Amino acid sequence: MLQKPRGTRDFLPEEMEQRREIEMRMRRVAGLFGYHEVLTPTFENQELYTIKSGEGIIGEMYTFEDKGGRKLALRPEGTAAILRMYLNEAKVLPKPIRWCYLLDCYRYERPQKGRYRQFWQFGSELIGADTAAGDAEIILLADGLLRAAGVRFSLQVGHLAPMKHILLDLGEEDKKRVMALLDKRSFDELEACLNDTGKPELYDKLTALIECTTIDEAKEVCGDFPGMERMEEMLGILDSQKLEYSLNLGIVRGLDYYTGMVFEGFAENLGAENQIIGGGSYRLAHLFGGEDTPSCGFGIGFDRVMVSRGEVELKRDPLVAILYTQEGQKRAFEVAGMLRREGIRTEINLLDRGVGAQMKHASRTAPYAILIGKNEVESGTVTLKNLASGDQVECKLDDLPGEVR
Ligand code: HAM
Repeated sequence: MLQKPRGTRDFLPEEMEQRREIEMRMRRVAGLFGYHEVLTPTFENQELYTIKSGEGIIGEMYTFEDKGGRKLALRPEGTAAILRMYLNEAKVLPKPIRWCYLLDCYRYERPQKGRYRQFWQFGSELIGADTAAGDAEIILLADGLLRAAGVRFSLQVGHLAPMKHILLDLGEEDKKRVMALLDKRSFDELEACLNDTGKPELYDKLTALIECTTIDEAKEVCGDFPGMERMEEMLGILDSQKLEYSLNLGIVRGLDYYTGMVFEGFAENLGAENQIIGGGSYRLAHLFGGEDTPSCGFGIGFDRVMVSRGEVELKRDPLVAILYTQEGQKRAFEVAGMLRREGIRTEINLLDRGVGAQMKHASRTAPYAILIGKNEVESGTVTLKNLASGDQVECKLDDLPGEVR
């Protein structure tokens, strides 16, 4: 038997209903913050991703050449494409622009629990608000979305400014290397790397910085640093809104486009893959041929949200099954159409089988059945049956929608 590709999943109706419900709750919250939903293509020109991250990123993506020899990639995340779309379609819109999205993303990863090759992100991007208030809004929105989704999580908020201040004298490549090692918390390698660069004294500062839990402690480690006031203002807004978070100045984030504020969230009940959200402020527009445009945003791992939050209790409108004998077939289709126009979910028998077999099937799929046989056709009525209790009534067609309700 053929199987689905590695790292992908099938979603049966039950699961889809659960996902749609949570998507809807998250969309509603994003809407309440003034964010509008957008969609970009599933595949983009490879360049969109290699321009910032280099050719190395190709190993982590699904890339292919189309029949015209164009180098394309399935999107590994949403942000780059959203910024491309902004430049292509929406440069002239009044700023700030508030967009949200729910996208399937593709990464060539080693699949494991909570880590897939096709997964969904609910993300938001705030374009053109280079302020502490903008950074704070994005974090507050993320918190609101995760709460609406029913996840129990903890948020860690950080800023790259103090770390960059410590690493000021390093060249760009060394800086990247050091930050990547710090991100992985590979302390032995970090120490060796700093020795290589001739700056062993930075090790103690960096390891002290990632222990800081307040901005005052950070100032003690690295003195005043550029961006400090903005960071203080942002944290002040978050505190004024009683947001629950902890300060973590050791957050680096894997993607290399972040410039200032960075944050991550972790679900309380997931295993190793418990990071449920990541985001921060970044600049990408100038790399894509546009004007430098400060932006910030985040991506929520939607699949992880679903696992973490567990079953949703769904309110479903009941389904009515229509059963009939051969003489009642056309009337049955007529009745189904009438009920659907009234907004009543209706399924009709499609197989050649007796009323007994139809009833048996209906009792597995629907709480109510409508039976239409020769007598009902002649008298312009139907028999409406409650499949749980067995009670039944005969009613006129005109009265049926009311009776079903
Ligand atoms: P990211 O941290 O790479 O950020 O991904 C965001 C979230 O997507 C992660 O926290 C995780 O929950 C989920 N995720 C990532 N990879 C997988 C996977 N293989 N399987 C399941 N879930 C996964 C970004 O993608 C940035 N674009 C976020 C952003 C938006 N930054 C600014 N704006």
